[in-house]
Amino acid sequence: MATSAKVGANMTGVQMSPKDTKSLLEAVEQIRPDVPGDSKAIKTERIVRNEEAERIGSVPVPGSAKGMLKTTFDMALGKSPEILIDKLGERLAFERNGVRLYDAMIAKAKALEGADSDLVQVLKHIRDEEFEHMNLVREAIETLGADPTAMTPCADVAGVKAMGVMQVLTDSRTNVAQGMGALLTIELEDNAAWELLIELAEAGGHPNIAKSFHKAKEQEDDHLVKIKTLVRRDLIVQIK
Ligand SMILES: [Fe+2]
Ligand SMILES: [Fe+2]
Repeated sequence: MATSAKVGANMTGVQMSPKDTKSLLEAVEQIRPDVPGDSKAIKTERIVRNEEAERIGSVPVPGSAKGMLKTTFDMALGKSPEILIDKLGERLAFERNGVRLYDAMIAKAKALEGADSDLVQVLKHIRDEEFEHMNLVREAIETLGADPTAMTPCADVAGVKAMGVMQVLTDSRTNVAQGMGALLTIELEDNAAWELLIELAEAGGHPNIAKSFHKAKEQEDDHLVKIKTLVRRDLIVQIK
């Protein structure tokens, strides 16, 4: 991989100009924000807003359960099926997004490391598995009679969370090491999320779904090892 960091004319730190630092600190004391209040006021406002706010969304009743009595629906799908459906929706959104994130990283790696590089091959392999996982979750949602195209609340949140990672990967100025660091964030969550999902499916009375997820969890273990190793190996070689 190319060198991760480069020495250059970076003027952002205070050590670059002690004289300006002094006048900057004086200005902080003299010039007050034109909006009254401090961080305490922001906190208070946030508390009020949190208390007033509506939920971020809802879990739709499975299409096949429409017209069923609520109790029948519960008996067929477990005590609180909406929890599992919400988390399955989250996994679906995350894996779908994962494919897009890997696509962005593959483009970066092709440009900086070459289309035939080992890195591109590893990234393509993981990308294809993320795609498989997306379809696996879609099938599980359909098994429960729910709609995989519905955006559940946790799916919505998953999309928002991944926005920063997507920005890092699609920024053409970021290098391979920075992109791989962003993917490491994703894979750490990916791994923990599959572990939890298997546990939730078991606890919700869906052993078959839980069983069908084990292969995906093993592949996620492999993703995490691969990305961690690539990040570490690259930096250690450069620093020594
Ligand atoms: Fe994944
Ligand atoms: Fe993954």
